[in-house]
Amino acid sequence: MPEYHVECMRCGARYERDDVVYTCECGGLLDVKYEYSTVDAASITRGGELGVWKYRALLPFEDGILKLKGEGGTLAPVTTREGNTPLYKCERLAEKLGMRELYVKHEGLNPTGSFKDRGMTVGVTKALELKMTRVACASTGNTSASLAIYAARAGIPCFVLLPKGKVALGKVAQAVMHGARVVAIDGNFDDALRIVRELCEELRIYLLNSVNPYRLEGQKTIAFEIAEQLGWRAPDRVVLPVGNAGNISAIYKGFCELRELGILGEVPKMTGIQADGARPIVDAIKEGRAEITPEPQPETIASAIRIGNPVNAPKALRAIRESGGVAEAVTDAEIIEAQKELARLEGIGVEPASAASLAGLKKLLELGVVEKDETVVCVTTGHLLKDPEAVLKACEPPVEVEADADAVRKLLIAHGL
Ligand code: F0G
Repeated sequence: MPEYHVECMRCGARYERDDVVYTCECGGLLDVKYEYSTVDAASITRGGELGVWKYRALLPFEDGILKLKGEGGTLAPVTTREGNTPLYKCERLAEKLGMRELYVKHEGLNPTGSFKDRGMTVGVTKALELKMTRVACASTGNTSASLAIYAARAGIPCFVLLPKGKVALGKVAQAVMHGARVVAIDGNFDDALRIVRELCEELRIYLLNSVNPYRLEGQKTIAFEIAEQLGWRAPDRVVLPVGNAGNISAIYKGFCELRELGILGEVPKMTGIQADGARPIVDAIKEGRAEITPEPQPETIASAIRIGNPVNAPKALRAIRESGGVAEAVTDAEIIEAQKELARLEGIGVEPASAASLAGLKKLLELGVVEKDETVVCVTTGHLLKDPEAVLKACEPPVEVEADADAVRKLLIAHGL
C-alpha cells in the first residue's frame, strides 16, 4: 500500500492521514497525493477480477491495514462488490454516428445502480478507519441510495438531505428501504449540500459528498478499468455527465496516475456534458474563465445533474483544460433521444443524466469538435430503473386490449409485425 497524504490544490497545505478534513482552511479543494515510488505498479496491471479493490495499491490505506483475501490487516473494507462493470463496444451506435470505435462503460451495473458505489466503498471504509460513527450526504438521489446501503453494511447510522420533489423514485426507494434517515428540504441540491456541510462539521458526522477527497479515490478506478478493458490503452476521449463535478475529476486523476506509473503514455481528453438548464462548467470553459458563475435555479429532466453550484468545479476545470478536453451542454429533448438510442440500438438502459454523455458526443461530432476516428468511451453513470417516471413520460404507454388472440393479432398486424 502506498505512502500518501492530503494536499490543498490551491495553497499546497498538507494534511495528515488521520485528519477529518474535507476542504483546506483556505477554502481550496483537497487531493490525495501518493508517493508513487512506493506504489506496487505491477499489482495494478496484474490480471484478476476487476473491481475497486483490485487497485488497492493506489487506494488511500496504509500498508498492512486492509483485511482482504490473503491480507492480514485490521480493517475489513465495506464492500458489495462494486466496479467490474462492462465496457460495451457499441457497433450499431458507432455506425449510426459514422464513428470508428465507440464504447460505453456502463456504471449503472454497479450494486446500487450507479458509479457512486465505487466512491462509497472507499469512503465508508475510510469513515470506519477514522473512527467516525455516523455518515451523511446531500444528494440528487444516487449518492444517498449508495451511502444508505454502505452505511447499512457498516452498521452505522446515515443521514441524507434531498431536494424535495426532485429526486427520482428508485433512488428515494433505495435510501428509505436501506434505513437512511431521509430529510427532504424545500430547496435544491446546492442548498442541501451547504446545510449538510455545516452540520457535519458541527456534529462530527462524516461527510460523504464528493468534496470528500477519499470518495473520489474510489471513483478513479473507472479510469483503471477502462484502461484495463482496452488492453492497457487509453481511449482518445472520455465523455461523461457532470453535476457536482467529482466524477470527471476522479477519472482524470485515475488516468494521470496510470501515466505517472508509466502504464499509459497519454491521458484521454476529458469531456464534460451538462444539461442546458444547469451548465456553469460549460459556460466557464467556453468563456475561458477561471471560476464558474453558479446557476441559482438549475433545471433539467436529468435530475441527477440538476446542480447549479458544483463544489468540485476547480478540479473539473483543471481536468478538462489539462487534458485538452471540452465541455458542452445538451437539451432535455437531446437527452431523451440519446437515452432511447442507447436503449434500443445497444440494449443499454440508463437514466437521463447518463444519456447526456451520448447526447453531448453527438453534438460535438456534429460541431466537428470530436473527430470520427477517435476512440471514445462514454460513461453511463446510472441505471434506467433509477428513474421510471422519466421513462414513462418519454415512451408510449403499453397498448391495452382484451384477453383475446384475435384482438391481439389485429393489433400486432396494425403495428406491422
Ligand atoms: N450521473 C448520475 C447518474 C449522477 O447521479 C450524478 C451525480 C452525476 C452523473 C454527476 O456526477 O456529481 O460527480 O459530476 N449525482 C450526485 C448525487 C450529485 O447526489 O447522486 P458528479
